[in-house]
Amino acid sequence: MTTKNKWCLILGVSSGIGQACARSLSEAGWNILGVHFDIAEREQEINELKSALEKNSERVVFFNRNADSKKERLAIVEEIAEITGEQGVELMLHSLAFGTLLPFIKTENVEVVMQKNQMDMTLSVMAHSLVYWTQDLWEKKLLPRGGKIFAMTSGGSVMYSQNYGAVSAAKCALESHCKQLATELAPFGIMVNAIRAGVTDTPSLKKIPEFKALIHRAESFNPHGRLSTPEDIGIALRDLSEMQHSWMTGNVINIDGGEILTI
Ligand SMILES: NC(=O)c1ccc[n+]([C@@H]2O[C@H](COP(=O)([O-])OP(=O)(O)OC[C@H]3O[C@@H](n4cnc5c(N)ncnc54)[C@H](O)[C@@H]3O)[C@@H](O)[C@H]2O)c1
Repeated sequence: MTTKNKWCLILGVSSGIGQACARSLSEAGWNILGVHFDIAEREQEINELKSALEKNSERVVFFNRNADSKKERLAIVEEIAEITGEQGVELMLHSLAFGTLLPFIKTENVEVVMQKNQMDMTLSVMAHSLVYWTQDLWEKKLLPRGGKIFAMTSGGSVMYSQNYGAVSAAKCALESHCKQLATELAPFGIMVNAIRAGVTDTPSLKKIPEFKALIHRAESFNPHGRLSTPEDIGIALRDLSEMQHSWMTGNVINIDGGEILTI
């Protein structure tokens, strides 16, 4: 299959899993549209990433903007329409990590608990934004037949983790959104699946207060005897990108070396 001149859109391109997927798809010849939300201090690092991708991809376009803002999203979708023309976006990956990690219940030892605005923002960025990006690309006719949509979920949708309540809810909502979108887009030959990665050492993992314990547990129990890496997900996504049908849709696909089965 030739991927030359095909466009993928990666929400969360500048770090962790999104970055590894961009590198892997770029190696396969995809053009990259990437959205990220970063402070000026990361500018050089992100320019270096863009230059690395340009070694393989004919075109790479990054947008350093809030993917959860309707105004920004609409403006980016307009730009995508101009850049890709009728070809549109043949693969979209939702890999946004931005949420509040707090317990829900006040106790003797817990003074600060989750507030409504924090819960709303976490679900908005990490789950509902998938629906609005898909809607806007669809309405602009930028999702062609054969298109593929993937969204990153985690074991947090089925397992407890300390302070992870809002993100856990976001993962449940994200998986549910994938199923709904998969069903509504099936007649148009577009597949939608959630990818459930194992514990992966990235900046967002390190924001979870008990991340060392999570790493230790995953390393000890993953049947492959090691953590997932962002590159594991990138390679798997590249394989999935090569499918020539839309029959595999509405799934939560474990890409975790078997970790979810043992923890
Ligand atoms: N790291 C893990 O262990 C793990 C495991 C399973 C699933 N996941 C999921 O994978 C996804 C990516 O996680 P990661 O660990 O690679 O995170 P990361 O922190 O390394 O990367 C997050 C990316 O999201 C972007 N981003 C965040 N908020 C944004 C916004 N409002 N607008 C635009 N861009 C924004 C950042 O700029 C960055 O590019 C998340 O959905 C996460 O829950 C992670």
